[in-house]
Amino acid sequence: MIVCLQAGNVNTGACDDLRAACEAAHAHRAWVHVDGAFGLWAAANPATAPLLDGVELADSWACDGHKWLNVPYDSGFVFCARPDVHAEAIAYRAAYLAGAGELAGLGDLTLESSRRARGFAVWAALRELGRDGVAELVDRCCRLARRFAARLADGGAEIANDVVLNQVLVSFGDGTDELVRKVQEDGTCWLGGTTWRGRRYLRISVSNWSTTEADVDRSAAAILRLAQ
Ligand SMILES: Cc1ncc(COP(=O)(O)O)c(C=O)c1O
Repeated sequence: MIVCLQAGNVNTGACDDLRAACEAAHAHRAWVHVDGAFGLWAAANPATAPLLDGVELADSWACDGHKWLNVPYDSGFVFCARPDVHAEAIAYRAAYLAGAGELAGLGDLTLESSRRARGFAVWAALRELGRDGVAELVDRCCRLARRFAARLADGGAEIANDVVLNQVLVSFGDGTDELVRKVQEDGTCWLGGTTWRGRRYLRISVSNWSTTEADVDRSAAAILRLAQ
């Protein structure tokens, strides 16, 4: 039995109660996997780290570099607390390249037999940012998401989620998809539409390292103008 928990819901940015869920799942001998494609980065920032309380209790975690870290696509990571189990599930070297080494070597932890050095961009970004830089990047995006929500709410929009991370769900009532189309055509910023709890919303994700307060203000103003 595998229980998949979310660290960073794609719509709301919310995180499951990871500690309680891990304890409950392990009491029933389930494997716990955490999808932290973007939400796992929140652990690097002291202000958002409490959202991930208990995350270390899981058995495996997935995260992406091509989201919050802003490296090119195709940079995903998986961390597994049980490398022996991980390798047993996917290793093929013992059969294919007999004697190539012991299980749980790097080549036994991926389905790919060969690949380019995708890790290099991640390594370079982390070296450049450092621990504080990652924390600041996450903190800044979350702060900008709250600013976005405040600007839009001031202009009469409904903000449907608690803006705990970098996601903002916005509605002006009817015509959400028409508004999404207009915002995309306008080009001041890009956002998509989503369905959450049966209703359509504009979904804002602030994740680019270069986004500024002025960008957010300009974008909120454009959305409000188009909504009118
Ligand atoms: C929470 C979450 N999980 C998983 C994925 C899939 O990620 P990938 O781009 O690595 O396929 C996404 C991508 O949008 C995501 O937001």
